[in-house]
Amino acid sequence: MKFFILSIFPDMFQSPFSEGVIKRAREKELVEIELIDIRDFTLTKHRQVDDYPYGGGCGMILKPEPIYLAMDFVKEKVKDIWTIILTPKGEIFHQEIAKNLAKKENIALICGRYEGFDERIRYLADMELSIGRYILSGGEIAAMVIVDAVTRLVPDVIENPKSLEEETFCNGDWIEYPQYTRPYEFRGMKVPDILLSGNHKKIREWRMKMAKRRKDEKYI
Ligand code: ADE
Repeated sequence: MKFFILSIFPDMFQSPFSEGVIKRAREKELVEIELIDIRDFTLTKHRQVDDYPYGGGCGMILKPEPIYLAMDFVKEKVKDIWTIILTPKGEIFHQEIAKNLAKKENIALICGRYEGFDERIRYLADMELSIGRYILSGGEIAAMVIVDAVTRLVPDVIENPKSLEEETFCNGDWIEYPQYTRPYEFRGMKVPDILLSGNHKKIREWRMKMAKRRKDEKYI
């Protein structure tokens, strides 16, 4: 699978994409990430990516030409691509969307900036995604979130697929139970004895009960 990320701040991605699961997925060539600097596709001497809004108003708007030219460049490389723009008011990203995206071969993520982008940029997109109802200073962090969540679902990226199975949804709800590792006792807090019992059926029942309790308590 290949991600193309269109941004005016491609350097923002260097560290998050060079650590942990994403780093290993790239090394194993299971996932490829190409960072595309929108500024490289500007046509003006000053490499201007934004401009004043028609009709007045505050702030600057991302211009359509550099983003269209960058997408032309991407589409010359791959014929089939799923294009996503990141905006605060897009569809809220969640695990089911991540699962569907993990089946795509090529994904382009267009990161917005400033006060918004020219409406015509929307016509490039198959999908508009948000990572939550708050305003970030741009789509870059949202793109990182999406790349991370999708990459770990690409086959063979996570070596122990059991850990993916455990992250189950039940009736649309996240199931997560308390987990412990050594030491058995830490600052007076002990591991529940059931987990040391070796009785797998009882352990599973306890985990389900605790997961349900967590959900009811709205911890998650
Ligand atoms: N760009 C700015 N805020 C955003 C958000 N919450 N999600 C996705 N893209 C954004």
